[in-house]
Amino acid sequence: MNDKRLLACAALCSGRPDGRAADVGTDHGHLAVYLVQQGICGTAVACDINEKPLGSAKENIRRAGLEDRISTCLSDGLDCVPSEGITDVVIAGMGGELIADIISRADWIRTERVNLVLQPMTKWDHLRQYLWDNGFEVTRELPCTEGRFVYSVMQAVYVGGRQRGECSLAYLYGGLTDGSTEDGRAYLQRQAQRLETAGRGLMRSPDKAVTAQRYLAAARELRERIGG
Ligand SMILES: C[S@@+](CC[C@H](N)C(=O)[O-])C[C@H]1O[C@@H](n2cnc3c(N)ncnc32)[C@H](O)[C@@H]1O
Repeated sequence: MNDKRLLACAALCSGRPDGRAADVGTDHGHLAVYLVQQGICGTAVACDINEKPLGSAKENIRRAGLEDRISTCLSDGLDCVPSEGITDVVIAGMGGELIADIISRADWIRTERVNLVLQPMTKWDHLRQYLWDNGFEVTRELPCTEGRFVYSVMQAVYVGGRQRGECSLAYLYGGLTDGSTEDGRAYLQRQAQRLETAGRGLMRSPDKAVTAQRYLAAARELRERIGG
């Protein structure tokens, strides 16, 4: 597998040879196959809401000779996924709102024993806010660029209902990413641009001037992380 984004997801799995991963929205099943082939987990369940991608995952699992170690499951999110023994849940390549919705419907992942690996394509701010508000802590993020796309893969775990303050806009857009790597700088740059575009748009409405300034200040904060 040479998909940088999925490799970043694999890098944030807990890496326990006795572990069991659920790959939610598996599509082709490449990630589930890679995780088991590399010994990043012992077994996996590849799940998808649609028959067609699940069929393609089944075929790839069969070709890899891993039918005894990777099961498949037709499921909306984690709704029909047997929870027993799952140590890692990967939800990649979907919108942040859908990822948050899938997490919200699975009570059994509210434990420190389950490592979540989340890769939103859009609405990262919604997902970070959901995690912040619902007792999940993002413990690590891996930014990654692929062509003109730049993503941040998050690792999160349930820590319970600790009191937390407000979550800043710079955090909602930039997460834990710093400017120490090229991919990190690219991510922060892209997110700062997004904040600036939103901020300038808000400036056009006089009653939104305060919000606009918040966006522009958050953009400056991300640019400072890059170092300029
Ligand atoms: C863009 S693909 C991402 C595939 C792979 N996870 C990746 O990151 O490359 C999204 C996949 O998620 C599946 N999907 C969409 N909504 C889902 C849901 N609610 N539950 C499970 N799978 C879903 C789609 O059928 C599709 O196969």
